[in-house]
Amino acid sequence: MAPFFSKAVDRRTALETLGLSGLGLFALSSMPACAFEQDSDSFNKLLLKFTAESRKRLLDILNAQDFSGQIPAAEAKRLVMSDANGIEAVMVGLLPLARTYARPPISKFLVGAVARGVSGSLYLGANIEFPGLPLGFSVHAEQAALSNAYMHSDEGVSAIAVTAAPCGHCRQFMNELSPEGQIEILLEGHPTVKLSALLPMAFGPRDLGFKDGAFPVKEVDLVLPDAPSDALSRATVDAARKSYARYTKAQSGVAIGTKAGRIYKGSYIENAAFNPSLSPFQAALVGLIVAGEDLSAISRVVLAEVNAAKISQKIVTEVALSAIAPTVRLEVLNANINS
Ligand code: THU
Ligand code: ZN
Repeated sequence: MAPFFSKAVDRRTALETLGLSGLGLFALSSMPACAFEQDSDSFNKLLLKFTAESRKRLLDILNAQDFSGQIPAAEAKRLVMSDANGIEAVMVGLLPLARTYARPPISKFLVGAVARGVSGSLYLGANIEFPGLPLGFSVHAEQAALSNAYMHSDEGVSAIAVTAAPCGHCRQFMNELSPEGQIEILLEGHPTVKLSALLPMAFGPRDLGFKDGAFPVKEVDLVLPDAPSDALSRATVDAARKSYARYTKAQSGVAIGTKAGRIYKGSYIENAAFNPSLSPFQAALVGLIVAGEDLSAISRVVLAEVNAAKISQKIVTEVALSAIAPTVRLEVLNANINS
């Protein structure tokens, strides 16, 4: 079992910034403690809006060995029932928790997001910054939560709660996942608004001749000259098959392998406006972070992409990897679309 201890240490900075460090959450020695202990003041403080029973259920979900940043629909429903204030209150109530996953060593500004899938599942997201790389490689909390929903192949997203108003870049990113602008934006202390109100006269898939967006997740049939023999490479190809590369046909995926043997997949998510596209490496990094792991856990990274396409993720992924995990060398698989 992956030691939860590592998660505790890695998220110390985030929790300290949130003012939760003086509560006995962490001892500085290497004690094998849980990040969130049952009935600890700090855990209760993070989830003030929930009943003791709900907090216990959440703790079990977060501490599960295979936690992947998702609160399954049945559990989300239970939270609504025991807390009785409705799904919106549950989503907003989970924001302080989502925020503990933030990794902003540059800005020190923690952002948390909780997206709701059409399936009813909830997805955590937080902002991630990378020292040594251009700011443009940062992942916003909203992108993280939405990419998390995409990677779980949810049918779509109906709402997103955020700790701060979504920036223009996030509004544009959301527009690809909800091109009718129907996604609801929840901000504590503000009335719920639809994306269409925050992004009027939007530029989206329609402008380029498409009537729908990235959801539902579709699969492209990719073939490789040699069938990949290891689990990480197979996961990479799977991520590439599920990528959304409508405008370039340059499907791509990344899988990150950790020292403890876990695999985090990331699919490329393109945008009609091109620039807020999320690279497959960013999507895979989101998977790792929302599972509560640290970048230091990375031991292998594989990229699969369509051969000789209009664009390539290879150079950027290599450069990003050299800043994030300098000892790890990128492995690349070239695929062809089976048409
Ligand atoms: N940030 C978000 O996560 N979402 C937004 O929409 C606004 C900005 C993050 C990005 C960066 O890590 C930090 O906040 C400062 O801009
Ligand atoms: Zn943003």
